Amino acid sequence: MQIAIDGPAGAGKSTVARLIADRLGFIYIDTGAMYRALTWKALARKIDLQDEEKLYELACNTEISFTKQADKQNVICDGADISDEIRSPLINTNVSIVAAQPRVRIVMVKKQQDMARMNDVVMDGRDIGEQVLPGADFKFYVTASIEERARRRILEMKKQGFASDEQSVRQQIENRDRMDQERELGALKILDDAIVIDTSSLSIDEVLNRMLAIIGEM
Ligand code: DC
Repeated sequence: MQIAIDGPAGAGKSTVARLIADRLGFIYIDTGAMYRALTWKALARKIDLQDEEKLYELACNTEISFTKQADKQNVICDGADISDEIRSPLINTNVSIVAAQPRVRIVMVKKQQDMARMNDVVMDGRDIGEQVLPGADFKFYVTASIEERARRRILEMKKQGFASDEQSVRQQIENRDRMDQERELGALKILDDAIVIDTSSLSIDEVLNRMLAIIGEM
């Protein structure tokens, strides 16, 4: 079984995707973390993020996997746990540049499809329902207002020890939305067969229950 969850940054996709996967005993695949991991490796190697050929080669030669630890999922890149590193402001501002390269996306989509082939999965991202799992049993589009998404991102960054102000976080989210929606391949959009959930005024439990009710597992 495949559950696809798409939507913009800060809408609450990953929180709810992880909970649904736990509840159903499925594997959770955070595809945003995969683009983040590649961005982290490219920056560490001082690769020009506009150099599609170099990024393509890097994507082909990078192993990304996930391990589960209590209620946290760790991101492993070439054997190293980089779960914390990929959430830094530096990655936040650069990841959309990497994710916009069509040849990079082709490699990443293939990796994601390989992960989904042998398992029941909940996968979240931007292009899951359209490109990665077009035959998914359920396609959700999870969204929230820009104000609420900025508020959540600030709280998350505070927890991680990064200072941030509302104006710049909002600006960053708007920039990322624009890049995610306007790129030529794998652009974020609401599909005709997607179920839209606006989480702006819902608690995590409310979102979870609503989605589980739709999946029929309550
Ligand atoms: O969901 P996130 O914020 O961790 O995603 C990080 C970036 O990766 C975001 O700018 C969009 C991009 N992304 C993508 O292009 N395709 C996906 N399937 C998942 C994320």
